Amino acid sequence: MNTIECIKTRRSIRSYNGRPVDRELIVKAVEAASFAPSWKNTQVTRYIAIDDPALKERIASECSPYAGNSAVIRQAPVLVVTTMVRNRSGYERDGSFSTPKEKGWQMYDAGIAGQTFCLAAHELGLSTLIMGIFDEEKITSLLQIPEEQEVCALIAVGYTDENPAAPKRKTTDDLLKFI
Ligand SMILES: Cc1cc2nc3c(=O)[nH]c(=O)nc-3n(C[C@H](O)[C@H](O)[C@H](O)COP(=O)(O)O)c2cc1C
Repeated sequence: MNTIECIKTRRSIRSYNGRPVDRELIVKAVEAASFAPSWKNTQVTRYIAIDDPALKERIASECSPYAGNSAVIRQAPVLVVTTMVRNRSGYERDGSFSTPKEKGWQMYDAGIAGQTFCLAAHELGLSTLIMGIFDEEKITSLLQIPEEQEVCALIAVGYTDENPAAPKRKTTDDLLKFI
């Protein structure tokens, strides 16, 4: 698969068949995602891969205020929780912010890394769903995320049971202008 085909055919998948995911594939996708660019190469994104059904069930029932996401978390054989190491991306060595975007750069970095992970997973035959709706306080406590990290997103990973069409995209006329 070439890069543009990979970008265009990746879909958000909300229905998974029961096939388990080999941990080695998660390792490969994270290894690929480690090549994502980041603020001054700070590489603040971390990945927690959960394939224990009992722990996934606790996340689905205790940390997910949106039933649609709970259903996905229950079905997908792996849930990857991405976190960001605080106070590095977008910061100077003395702890001050480098730009007016302040701590916004860490979400930027973790977003790029997350998409790189999803594209690599797609190339490896896996499907994913990035989820931004979750109870941050509860998942931080349940997974005992250390104080120096902050949860960014949840990413379901598995083998698809559906083949949805791409949701409509804006045209390049809408998105781009040359000046
Ligand atoms: C930051 C972010 C948060 C998202 N959160 C959710 C979510 O909580 N639940 C969900 O079902 N989809 C979620 N999505 C998936 C989007 O709805 C999806 O990417 C969009 O509809 C385009 O579809 P596609 O990914 O198949 O191209 C999220 C996507 C992103 C990038």
